[in-house]
Amino acid sequence: MNPIIELSNKISCAIDNKKDRKICGMELGVFVPTPYAESHGATGSQAAPYIGLDKILKGLYLTREDSFIDIGCGKGRVISYMVSRGFPCKLTGIEINPDVAEVALKWTSRYPNVEIIEGDAFGLDYNDYTVLFMYRPMETFTFKMFIELLESTLTHEIKLYYYVDEQSGYYLNDRPGWTLLRRQKMHFVKGLFIHKEPQRYSVWTYSPGNAN
Ligand SMILES: C[S@@+](CC[C@H](N)C(=O)[O-])C[C@H]1O[C@@H](n2cnc3c(N)ncnc32)[C@H](O)[C@@H]1O
Repeated sequence: MNPIIELSNKISCAIDNKKDRKICGMELGVFVPTPYAESHGATGSQAAPYIGLDKILKGLYLTREDSFIDIGCGKGRVISYMVSRGFPCKLTGIEINPDVAEVALKWTSRYPNVEIIEGDAFGLDYNDYTVLFMYRPMETFTFKMFIELLESTLTHEIKLYYYVDEQSGYYLNDRPGWTLLRRQKMHFVKGLFIHKEPQRYSVWTYSPGNAN
């Protein structure tokens, strides 16, 4: 790997660790491979970088009436970022891997507006949420099934932040009800290579009323 990218990425990870310690009292950055790849099309537990979260979630405004969920929350890096922004609404994370969910449950217990659910994201009713976040929790085939689940069950408009959308984000292109608000590259941000490889993200709304 290019040594500049490698060094830059190390600095970005060090910044993440420092923020984790401040907000969560522990570091969340170590990658945990998934035992749920074959059975659930799950990806491993990789924490999203704070600088990337700042870029994708810039401009997000949430009221008490909103309800945010990180689908595949891992150890809770996205929830940590949301806590640091001081949003007044309920913040939920759902995580299929109990070993990883346990970490998120542990550090979030001091935050009353945070709920961590250990379980399969396919078992929830997303009408309970207004803003959905995904840091590529699923392989493409499973992501497609998940989108179809949303389309067949949602009765109100939601906003979806999809970080690392390169492999499967195309599935939402030109799909009835889905509107692309923003799609951008995510690699060199605020003077650092926050990912070892170039990534991309997209932000969408889904309106069931416009789907037919
Ligand atoms: C790339 S990690 C993202 C972690 C977290 N969002 C973050 O940014 O720190 C994806 C996570 O999604 C979880 N996951 C995958 N499929 C899932 C499912 N069906 N239900 C709940 N969690 C799932 C994985 O176990 C993994 O921890």
